[in-house]
Amino acid sequence: MTTPQEHLMTWLRDAYAMERQQAIESTEKQISRMQNYPELRQWVEDHVAASERQADRLKECIHRHGGDTSTLKGLAAKVMGNVQAITGFFADDEVVKTAIADYAFKHYEIGCYTSLKTAADACGDMTTSQVCEEIVREEQSLADRVAGLVPSLTRRFVEREAAGEKAAT
Ligand SMILES: [Fe+2]
Repeated sequence: MTTPQEHLMTWLRDAYAMERQQAIESTEKQISRMQNYPELRQWVEDHVAASERQADRLKECIHRHGGDTSTLKGLAAKVMGNVQAITGFFADDEVVKTAIADYAFKHYEIGCYTSLKTAADACGDMTTSQVCEEIVREEQSLADRVAGLVPSLTRRFVEREAAGEKAAT
């Protein structure tokens, strides 16, 4: 049997690992390839900064429950593997596919933090519940912003491609 408290701890650790991984991989993978798409680059930078702040807040929640964050990796690696699978298949239109995958992934996170907030409520952990609520709002705002970028990115991509310029970057 797994107690609600144990589930909360596992999910907090999963979320922490997910944020850390996103911050690192998004920086490495995306920013160097967006010279002609400064608004997406700015979004990725904001998303990295937000992920780092979220990881810090989750870490505090984990520590309050007496847990530690030194040995985490597993699930986040799998989750990000899926996002990379979406973007990696389409080398030519990577910028467009990246924005779409980022939009999708923000909604995955909204689902995670909605669930985590409910688990925190069930354990009477109102601090974690409030942190999750804040994070859901941040993810929603990032999702809305990247969704708003998709049309202009796509237009620029097809125009650059049609003009014989190197469209992908
Ligand atoms: Fe996040």
